[in-house]
Amino acid sequence: MSTTRFEGATAIVTGAASGIGRATALRLAADGAKVGCVDLADAVDETVELIRNAGGTAVAARVNVTDEQSVAAGVETVTAALGPATILANVAGVLRFGIFHESSVEDFDLQIAVNLKGPFLMSRAVIPHMLEAGKGAIANVASSAGMFGQAYMPGYAASKGGVVMLTRAIAWEYHKVGIRANAVSPGGVDTSMTGQVEFPKDIDFSLVKKTVAPNYQMMQPEEPAALIAYLCSGEAAAINGAVIPIDYGITA
Ligand SMILES: NC(=O)c1ccc[n+]([C@@H]2O[C@H](COP(=O)([O-])OP(=O)(O)OC[C@H]3O[C@@H](n4cnc5c(N)ncnc54)[C@H](O)[C@@H]3O)[C@@H](O)[C@H]2O)c1
Repeated sequence: MSTTRFEGATAIVTGAASGIGRATALRLAADGAKVGCVDLADAVDETVELIRNAGGTAVAARVNVTDEQSVAAGVETVTAALGPATILANVAGVLRFGIFHESSVEDFDLQIAVNLKGPFLMSRAVIPHMLEAGKGAIANVASSAGMFGQAYMPGYAASKGGVVMLTRAIAWEYHKVGIRANAVSPGGVDTSMTGQVEFPKDIDFSLVKKTVAPNYQMMQPEEPAALIAYLCSGEAAAINGAVIPIDYGITA
């Protein structure tokens, strides 16, 4: 599906090299946005190529979302090429499994840095552009793991719970000046993140069952991407500070 709802707008999407981030970049471009595709990985160039081949406008920026200078340089690269950004989708993320008391400090720090500090740094860098434009929409990617207790992913769950509150903090602070912030909270999505899952040995699988959708359904990355596009559009003008599950009802 494609529309003209973002015609003339510049969007920045993190995690755009893969999975939900790539699907979001493609979807926003199909809906008329010029898209800054931000990621650490070289495959971000393929996303840009896919957008250009479909007649859209995109540039790539190699950014480590955990690093303040890298974020500033990446936002500058995108806005110099495409104009000030009024849409930001914070999608980049990492997942590490581990039994709580055996999990490493490095894994905990990494997940907080990418999943929570990343959206903080990116939003902090892009909001001044939105203030200048007098409008803006931010969509963060939380997770069902940030909505209820899940076993064997302590750093991930804590980071995604943080994303929920970061989203609400931005939404409330800027609601009078036309900048909205919302989050989508996916359950299982068929991406490289879930394809590479390695559960720790000897875990209690009955604790994992809660996270499994009926009939083991996994959604495609285009499904949360469509929700992100909707939340960033004018049709969602009254939605602010919302955290919307897209999870087959597992958090119902
Ligand atoms: N796949 C799922 O089931 C699922 C469920 C709920 C939430 N999510 C969330 O959705 C988002 C996207 O995940 P995905 O499933 O598409 O995974 P993915 O592994 O396919 O994509 C993640 C992308 O983030 C990028 N990235 C990682 N660290 C980065 C950094 N420091 N700086 C810049 N980019 C970085 C990676 O290079 C990759 O391109 C993540 O925030 C994830 O936590 C995924």
